Amino acid sequence: MNICIIGSGYVGLVTGTCLAELGNNVICIDNDKAKIKKLKAGIIPIYEPGLEELVKRNKKEGRLSFGSEIKEGIRKCEIIFIAVGTPSKSNGEADLTFVEYVSREIAISMPSYRLIVEKSTVPVKTGEWVENTIKAFNKRNIKFDVASNPEFLREGSAIEDFMHPDRIVIGVNSKKARDILVKLYKPLNAQIVITDTKSAEIIKHASNSFLATKISFINAVSNICDKVGADIIEVAKGMGLDKRIGKEFLNAGLGFGGSCFPKDLSAFIRIGEEIGYDFGMLKEVQKVNDYQKRVLVKKIEELLWNLSDKTIGILGLAFKPDTDDIRQAPSLDIISMLLKEGAKIKVYDPEAMDRVKGLFKKGVKFCKDAYEVAKNSDCLVIVTEWNEFKKLDFKKIKNTMQQLIIIDGRNIYDSEEIKKLGFKYVGMGTR
Ligand code: UDX
Repeated sequence: MNICIIGSGYVGLVTGTCLAELGNNVICIDNDKAKIKKLKAGIIPIYEPGLEELVKRNKKEGRLSFGSEIKEGIRKCEIIFIAVGTPSKSNGEADLTFVEYVSREIAISMPSYRLIVEKSTVPVKTGEWVENTIKAFNKRNIKFDVASNPEFLREGSAIEDFMHPDRIVIGVNSKKARDILVKLYKPLNAQIVITDTKSAEIIKHASNSFLATKISFINAVSNICDKVGADIIEVAKGMGLDKRIGKEFLNAGLGFGGSCFPKDLSAFIRIGEEIGYDFGMLKEVQKVNDYQKRVLVKKIEELLWNLSDKTIGILGLAFKPDTDDIRQAPSLDIISMLLKEGAKIKVYDPEAMDRVKGLFKKGVKFCKDAYEVAKNSDCLVIVTEWNEFKKLDFKKIKNTMQQLIIIDGRNIYDSEEIKKLGFKYVGMGTR
């Protein structure tokens, strides 16, 4: 099929490339001309394992192309995915101005039937707004359908998640739209949930909000474990073996970041407010999540006393491993809080350093590896659980640190082992 992806960010670029990989002809559009120039030259503007090779191959085989003119894509392609950003406004609401702009452009330019698919995460009833906007500007009364097809891609495993999804969610209001999308996704042989657009839009917000709730729940329990001397790792194990709970997303630590959970939580809360439902539970999920970063700083203060002029080594900046994305990354708030206390900060991250470099004026030293971070530091703090931090040579580190203190924000180490090496060790809810 001929497919146009409008918005070539994390979601649009992965979706377009994977649909090309399935044999479709795909054109990815973006209004960021610099980004399109890079993509045309085979340069991928984001770090996503496996994406570069997939883009190059599909480009070479002529199934994947890039452009910056929406009209070009709308003219050529029967299926149009809207994958533009839906960032949070200051009041937490999703900003849908890009979605509206694209909907209008489609209405004005479409020469014949088009299936417009919402891929971006949007509040419930956005599909209706898209439909009304297209109707209002579709002077030639051309037939079209609007569908909702939310993505469940995790950064760092987005291609895997696309090719082997737990389920595909399709929200449609016509048989034609349903048949097109069922055919499009047939090669994936995945479970397909076919529903109406409003239910599909809610599935997305409810899924992300539930996952965030699960994380805040285990983080809240980890704070109780800290106070009573229980061990959250064992508590999570004992809980997760109940298949109604499941062991996934029960890792206590510094909480969630990224461009989805925080944004989707606040959007869902706002949706509640607009329809007169106070989603207090989700506000609590946000509160617990924000508190985790202060829990970590408090642990550092308990071990180092005054922080002014102390050197604190931070390992990890990205909001989670296997990505360079620092949006809502816990590391940023933690560094700001420590700088405010007058601490000197040393940082290293395998992928996210460049994105952080411009954020802090002074007081942060960017190091070439974990060992340089540890050198002369009063404590070493694990903020992002990159694999390479899981097998550091602690004997080597022991000889260079100012004080032998490890604060494990993601519980990646075995506390007994670290203590045996002569370090003071503190985790998040672990003994
Ligand atoms: C998430 C959803 O998983 C995905 O379906 C949706 O499409 C986009 O948002 P993503 O944000 O990329 O994906 O990462 P994910 O792996 O889900 O982790 C989200 C956050 O939760 C990360 O900050 C991670 O550090 C944190 N997390 C995850 C925990 O703190 N504990 C856990 O047990 C799992």
